Amino acid sequence: MIFLEEVNTTLIVNLSYILSSMLFIFGLKMLGSPETARKGNLLSSSGMFLAIVVTLLDQNIVDFSWIVIGLCIGASIGYFAATKVKMTSMPEMVALFNGFGGIASLLVGSAEYLINIGLNAASLLAIFLTVLIGGVTFSGSLIAWGKLSEFIGGKPFLYKGQQIVNFLLLAILLICGLEMIFIQGLFTETQYQILILICVLAFILGIFLVIPIGGADMPVVIALLNSFSGLAACAAGFVIENNVLIVAGALVGASGLILTNIMCKAMNRSLANVLFSGFGAVIDLSSGEKAEQGEVKPLSSSDAYLILEASSSVLIVPGYGMAVAQAQHVVRELGELLEANGAEVRYAIHPVAGRMPGHMNVLLAEANVSYDVLVEPEDVNPIMDTVDVCMVIGANDVVNPDAKENQGSPIYGMPIIEVDRAKTTFVLKRSMASGFAGIQNPLFFKSNTRMLFGDAKDSVSALVAEFKA
Ligand code: TAP
Repeated sequence: MIFLEEVNTTLIVNLSYILSSMLFIFGLKMLGSPETARKGNLLSSSGMFLAIVVTLLDQNIVDFSWIVIGLCIGASIGYFAATKVKMTSMPEMVALFNGFGGIASLLVGSAEYLINIGLNAASLLAIFLTVLIGGVTFSGSLIAWGKLSEFIGGKPFLYKGQQIVNFLLLAILLICGLEMIFIQGLFTETQYQILILICVLAFILGIFLVIPIGGADMPVVIALLNSFSGLAACAAGFVIENNVLIVAGALVGASGLILTNIMCKAMNRSLANVLFSGFGAVIDLSSGEKAEQGEVKPLSSSDAYLILEASSSVLIVPGYGMAVAQAQHVVRELGELLEANGAEVRYAIHPVAGRMPGHMNVLLAEANVSYDVLVEPEDVNPIMDTVDVCMVIGANDVVNPDAKENQGSPIYGMPIIEVDRAKTTFVLKRSMASGFAGIQNPLFFKSNTRMLFGDAKDSVSALVAEFKA
């Protein structure tokens, strides 16, 4: 009877885990399109909720009062983060969450190692990988967070022989792994000592891997660390023999890697280049790179209105500055007024515009801009010559013609939105300051470019007021 009950419980738990895994996979698939992304998010969250409830009911892990306390603290932090953190600070938040994922896996692996005696080699290997990857993810994510939030300088920190140092660290870690798995007592006396040694070395490796990378590449690093946090969770799943954790960790690991690859492609750089080249270290902002390349032609919002009023096709190209100004709602309003005036309005979204993947899509969706009017660079570049006015709203690097014309530019080869080929281009920004890459933009000096200086929200609001007058 008891045996049957146990079989039934195991069956129910495993069926629930399969259902959770299916919800994760369908949810992830739906995240691929802006139209289905919200539902996808809900689906995946329901899968996670089911997995948590079933795990808690099934396993008598700790006292339920501790679990409730943990849930309350975690839910409060999650609620605060989701509601209070500014959209422009999302990458920092994701960096912290990745780090916490890493340390959670490390703690699970460590606890299993310390409370179990006589584990087999496979379990010890899983524990070693959990602690190693979790530790690297934790300290690396903290450095990424520090760089993005400017607690640590965003410049790449390069020194001679750093790759050799990292390689040696990794080699020592692998030797420690061998001691942990096969030859206990080789150079440490207790389980505690080898575990602490591995943790400390993994933390140092995480710091050494991320600190040389410049702030401009941090979003890619965060996607990679996200993948690592998934792999650490997957290894932790093997440690505690939890199938749903293995599946969820593998999904996070794989999707993080795919995202990293997409971002590298959008910048036309290899992952090795991102990790080891110290992008930005060689750019001297006071050098000729920054020198002005002719005269800029500022225009007033009234003049911009007159040109827009006579346009039949307008392309809006948002960038990081639109996020800073929180101009998405007035931008949508301007788009509607232009449409009412008879113009065809489209929004061109560059994959790395802003500071996180999908940044512009999220902002425009928040402002209820229809998905039908969003276009990708490869769709709009071939017909750019037919666009009457291109409005670049707080974008800079993603419209920099040097990426296709200047072989010496650090962003040479990055696909851009070729706004310089439109009949007229308005650039809305506050000053002549550079974008994230820290380089000059020849677009501002082109004969068909007009600069509309000011905060993007103020400038667009002024245009809206002109249309309504
Ligand atoms: P950026 O090149 O960073 O330029 C943003 C521009 O916005 C700045 O030149 C700034 O000029 C302007 N700005 C800031 N606040 C403003 C405000 N309140 N009103 C109006 N303008 C304002 O932005 P981008 O074109 O979106 O390019 C993104 C950069 O991030 C690229 O270099 C990309 O490679 C990098 N990156 C992004 C990602 C992801 S996933 N998105 C990943 C890796 C790297 P002023 O200060 O003069 O106003």
